[in-house]
Amino acid sequence: MPIIKRLTEEVFSRIAAGEVVERPASLLKELIENSLDAGATRIDVEIFGAGKTSLRVSDNGCGMDADDVRLCLERHATSKIAAFEDLDNLHTFGFRGEALYAIAAVSKVTVTSAQADSKTGWRVTSEGGKVTNGPAPIVHGTTVFVKDLFYNTPARLEFMKSDGSERSKLTAVIEEAALANPGVRFTCKSEGRQVLRFEPEDSGDFFTDFDMRAAAVLGDDLAGGLLPIDVERPGVRVRMLVSPFDMMPSSRGFQYFFVNKRPVASKILQTALYKAYGERSPGKHPVCVALLDLNPDAFDANVHPGKREVRFKKDGEMFEIVSGLVAAALAKAKAAAPITLAPEPEPVSASIVNDAPAQATDHYLGGRGFIPDQFKQLKLSSAVAMGVPEGAPVWYTPPFRYVGQIERSYMLFEANGGLFILDQHAAAERVLYEKFMGEIEDGGAKSQKLMIPVPVDLPASAVRAVLDKAERLEKIGFEVVAYGKNGLHVTAVPALFYQADETKKLIHRIIDSLSDPIAEAEQLRHDAIATIACKAAVKSHDRLGEEEAYKLLDALRDCKDGSACPHGRRAMLALNRDELARRFQRPGAVPL
Ligand SMILES: Nc1ncnc2c1ncn2[C@@H]1O[C@H](COP(=O)(O)OP(=O)(O)O)[C@@H](O)[C@H]1O
Ligand SMILES: [Mg+2]
Repeated sequence: MPIIKRLTEEVFSRIAAGEVVERPASLLKELIENSLDAGATRIDVEIFGAGKTSLRVSDNGCGMDADDVRLCLERHATSKIAAFEDLDNLHTFGFRGEALYAIAAVSKVTVTSAQADSKTGWRVTSEGGKVTNGPAPIVHGTTVFVKDLFYNTPARLEFMKSDGSERSKLTAVIEEAALANPGVRFTCKSEGRQVLRFEPEDSGDFFTDFDMRAAAVLGDDLAGGLLPIDVERPGVRVRMLVSPFDMMPSSRGFQYFFVNKRPVASKILQTALYKAYGERSPGKHPVCVALLDLNPDAFDANVHPGKREVRFKKDGEMFEIVSGLVAAALAKAKAAAPITLAPEPEPVSASIVNDAPAQATDHYLGGRGFIPDQFKQLKLSSAVAMGVPEGAPVWYTPPFRYVGQIERSYMLFEANGGLFILDQHAAAERVLYEKFMGEIEDGGAKSQKLMIPVPVDLPASAVRAVLDKAERLEKIGFEVVAYGKNGLHVTAVPALFYQADETKKLIHRIIDSLSDPIAEAEQLRHDAIATIACKAAVKSHDRLGEEEAYKLLDALRDCKDGSACPHGRRAMLALNRDELARRFQRPGAVPL
């Protein structure tokens, strides 16, 4: 059984120092790690007031005897290391002996514990610097009860985000621990209601358990179809689940890396992952749950007090291993995919047709005139503008004559004797964005109820993050409600963007912009809306005909800033009559 001792000054002076109890979630992370270090197979969490009123973690781990209970709240008191060199052979999460001390300094704490062979339990309480201890009713394992967090440091309380956001962070801590420890049962109650329950996976095969647990945490949408990687290399064991190339969600929020079960934020590992995917469709991100097991002396956990970072002794090697294994898994999946005959590509003319517009229309629309719904809804005049309307932007130089489309991406017009080119995606994005902003400024975007709600499976923490912003989402036309164990139901979407199959993607993108810490309120609104507009706008490679071309042009004319898409990318390019003459060195061309 472990025995707690105080670290000598020589040792603790070499351990990364700093605050570990920034918020309820960081405190919970420390308590769960203590329970896992104690060998617990059951960890129950109970939260009130988003962790600020109280937070209880009970486990069935090895427990502590009377002496350990008395010592556990003391500073630099740990049973996990004695000498600095022990860090090279570390098999526990903890080693600083400071978490319980730091928690006791900013809250009212009671630790109750009993070892398996004990006849009695023991308890220690700390409140306002006063520590008392004594016997307690016997329950095997350990319970840490933290009350009135930051009651004596009110400034810290002000740092807290909304309760919803703190709850989401708390839930995410449990999800992380659950992913890396599939054999451990986790439950969480918040305000008396059960919000998480992960039953232990005990098939006898670790990878199967890991896979099952990942599905339980991430939900079927994200976990379905993930590719397994289970490889042992000298000194490192890699177990991963990653998205196949064609099934990446539109959020980067579902990437988890663990080194010896520690959740780590590692730029190296993340870059290695993305490298394996190479060129992706814009806005697509792989799901990844990676469990890396290394010899303790192959990395350093003593980098950051929150223990979120590790330093690999051979980081280039780690990069190559992860990137190589993921690339191999992707290649294998591709090779195994059923071979289907590629459909005959439709003939696309890359030349500019200088025919009369009527013929051009026939030519470009071919047999499958594609008119995006969004444009049908815009109800804009489609007449060819002949005069310059009052207040029209400078680029608007009628008369315009539609010439044709190239690359299914650009629309060419003759404009007052010059050449005018629209990037159809950027232009459509701008139009939708401004229309949508206009609706919001007029009191809220028009929303369309969905006959059948669209289910979106997500980890519980992400569900909470979205629900926390439900009011804001409602202003931009989305209605979301919690649904089932692992998900949301989207019950209404902005009317302008109604396309049911896109709803899931939109929600993922919105989660991304919500969780971006630098996105302040205004910025966030801009980003979320620009994202929606981008998703919903007509894409490059959509065939557009003459009618849509004029509609797009007119709609752009009425925009406040039609020259660029909401992300700032150029929407148009013009070579006016003089410019053309100059470029062809015509006699009499107006010099620059
Ligand atoms: N849930 C628990 N079960 C058994 N022992 C515990 C538990 N939580 C804390 N302890 C004991 O209290 C000590 C101090 O905990 P902590 O302050 O988190 O420091 P550290 O984990 O770095 O050792 C631990 O070393 C461990 O011996
Ligand atoms: Mg600890």
